[in-house]
Amino acid sequence: MEIWSEQTIKDFRRTLLDWYNQEGRANLPWRVNHEPYRVLVSEIMLQQTQVDTVLPYYERFMSDLPTVQDLAYAPEAQVLKLWEGLGYYSRARNLQKAAKFIVEELHGNWPESADDLQELPGVGPYTSAAIASISFGEVVPAVDGNAYRVFSRLLKIDADIANTKSRHIFYDAILPIVDPVRPGDFNQAIMDLGSSYMTAKNPDSHHSPVRSFNAAFRDGVEANFPVKTKKQKPIKQQYVAIISEKGGQLLFEQRPDTGLLAGFWTFPLIPINSIDDIEGQQLNIKPIVHVFTHRRWEIWLVKQEVDRMPNQQYLSSSDWQTLSLPTVQHKLLKALEDLK
Ligand code: ADE
Repeated sequence: MEIWSEQTIKDFRRTLLDWYNQEGRANLPWRVNHEPYRVLVSEIMLQQTQVDTVLPYYERFMSDLPTVQDLAYAPEAQVLKLWEGLGYYSRARNLQKAAKFIVEELHGNWPESADDLQELPGVGPYTSAAIASISFGEVVPAVDGNAYRVFSRLLKIDADIANTKSRHIFYDAILPIVDPVRPGDFNQAIMDLGSSYMTAKNPDSHHSPVRSFNAAFRDGVEANFPVKTKKQKPIKQQYVAIISEKGGQLLFEQRPDTGLLAGFWTFPLIPINSIDDIEGQQLNIKPIVHVFTHRRWEIWLVKQEVDRMPNQQYLSSSDWQTLSLPTVQHKLLKALEDLK
């Protein structure tokens, strides 16, 4: 691993922030106004979702729930509706819990340090450091996938980023480099580098503003960084979605309170071991595929009249349109519609 001198650190900060001033995405709404509520919502949305996808959701969320109090007191259904399509709904539920905690327990007084921000539900080491640096000026590195990638290459850090223990190695290496005057801009400039010149695939280090600081590029070994052991493939699970229609209504089932998509309504989903197990009228030849972090669902629609179970309801389209349905259920409805 490279160790930078004080002078190199100063040169790096200046080069990075000059570039950010010229070419950073300064117009992103959470950069224009970095009030902590706005930054918290942006950071939670940006976990696992790209900036361009997040933008319209973010604008809608902020216009409907402009303050932490509005979020704390909103009906959960409204919050989930605003989140609909972003996926990973536990993020939305935790976000509302965090708002309630700030309003009810802390009387609207925000925690201002990364350590204290971690008390909020759904806020881990990265998100707390992002908010602390962007909204409160704390000098801490926000170590997300971008920071891993950028600094593993700049400094040739060979710690395995698939191992959570590597986080402190990166944290310790980056901490002395963070700009003491503009820590939030520093962290966001690193994110922008990671999504422009220093991408995972096909980086353009030759034209990068920090090219001269990139030890892995200099040594022609950039492709070896970051070091990451193979992660497990998502487990494949096959299901039949029961399409049971009665008087223009379709049978839905509410999922249990815990586990994947807890509490959401979907068509009744019956696990099968293989496509050969399907009985009844199979409607689609190719399965509908939905991938979660650790699961890959393959779903066949099967038309069947079944008896209603206690956790099931016949719903008309006007009923289900008021519910916030998970993305996988939207896919199933769309596939069913396309078969007509
Ligand atoms: N990804 C996560 N946080 C971000 C931010 N503040 N700006 C741009 N991309 C991000």
